[in-house]
Amino acid sequence: MTPIQECIKNNNHKIKPIWIMRQAGRYLPEFREIRSKNPDFVKLCLNENLSSEITLQPIKRFDFDAAIIFSDILMLPYGLGQEVKFEKGLGPKLGELDLDLIANVNKDEFSKKLNPIYKSISNISSNSICKNKDIIGFVGAPWTILVYMINKMSPKKSLSKEIFNDKLFVKELLSVIEKFLKIHIENQIKAGATLIQIFDSWAGLLEDNISKFIYEPTLNLVNHVKKFDVPVICFPRGVKDYKIFCEIVKPDMVNIDYNIDPKKIINEIQIPVQGGLDPKILLTDKENLNTEAIKYLQIFKDHPYVFNLGHGILPETKIEMVQELVKTVRDFK
Ligand code: CP3
Repeated sequence: MTPIQECIKNNNHKIKPIWIMRQAGRYLPEFREIRSKNPDFVKLCLNENLSSEITLQPIKRFDFDAAIIFSDILMLPYGLGQEVKFEKGLGPKLGELDLDLIANVNKDEFSKKLNPIYKSISNISSNSICKNKDIIGFVGAPWTILVYMINKMSPKKSLSKEIFNDKLFVKELLSVIEKFLKIHIENQIKAGATLIQIFDSWAGLLEDNISKFIYEPTLNLVNHVKKFDVPVICFPRGVKDYKIFCEIVKPDMVNIDYNIDPKKIINEIQIPVQGGLDPKILLTDKENLNTEAIKYLQIFKDHPYVFNLGHGILPETKIEMVQELVKTVRDFK
């Protein structure tokens, strides 16, 4: 059994697998090299040879226990025909949203558009470097995808609350998003993903209607993944109460963000836990990194735990700090 599956399915707390969110990314010189020759990010995600190569880059360097496929949560709106662009320093920019067009996209058309992603997963799962490693497929949670599709850019820049006023529109859009997220999940599993992670990066933005926008649609996705006997990890970043989230949504494992007190979580949550370390710790020094990483390892010593961060690794992170982190986790007894 692959390491994360072993943690989840056998409740094994003796192994501490490690991988890192955004491990295939800009902190790696070999990624930056490919990226500099490929200015169009979406095209890069749809180049199955390059996306396979990028997925394997962090595995070759650090021998992580899991490979996460190089793609993006915004490939879903792209697959539905909404334009998606990534501009330097601006983050993602999405085009006009036409609900009538999107609601009429058919399953085959969508799957065909995203087919290089599935081919890349299948390449990776048959590569000997990934023997006994988890292959992580992923999607954005319905709420986070809804926010990007309506807001057309990162809500970090600005989010107009009025866009949620048209309740019928939002309801219909959410249902189309959910339908295609299920298809995208199923396609990734059929291509060889051994695990699915659901990223709800903007869960923390919502104050009301958490059931309608977060619990219910995420539970629907979690139940969908479970049908394939593949474990599912949820990352509801910033959500106020992880305990309630886990009780309602019932993922197989939960990734905590760096604002969560791990000591509190261990008393509240029975399911396997992943992550937590603040990515900014990797920008400090080795001594501090060791102290902070060991804190998580100690707290989760007797709990099924996968080492990871509390959000994506920062582009300015030095390679040697990642090496140090992997060594600390592997040496921990
Ligand atoms: O984890 C991995 O290594 C796999 C690939 C992956 C990417 N994005 C590649 C990427 C994954 C799992 C994601 C998830 C993702 N994408 C999320 C959820 C996780 C999170 O960070 O909260 C979100 C919200 C997105 C949307 C997105 N994609 C944003 C906001 C940005 C721009 C911000 C930034 O970091 O530059 C991206 C671009 C992106 N996705 C890059 C990578 C490697 C950087 C692209 C570049 O080279 O410019």
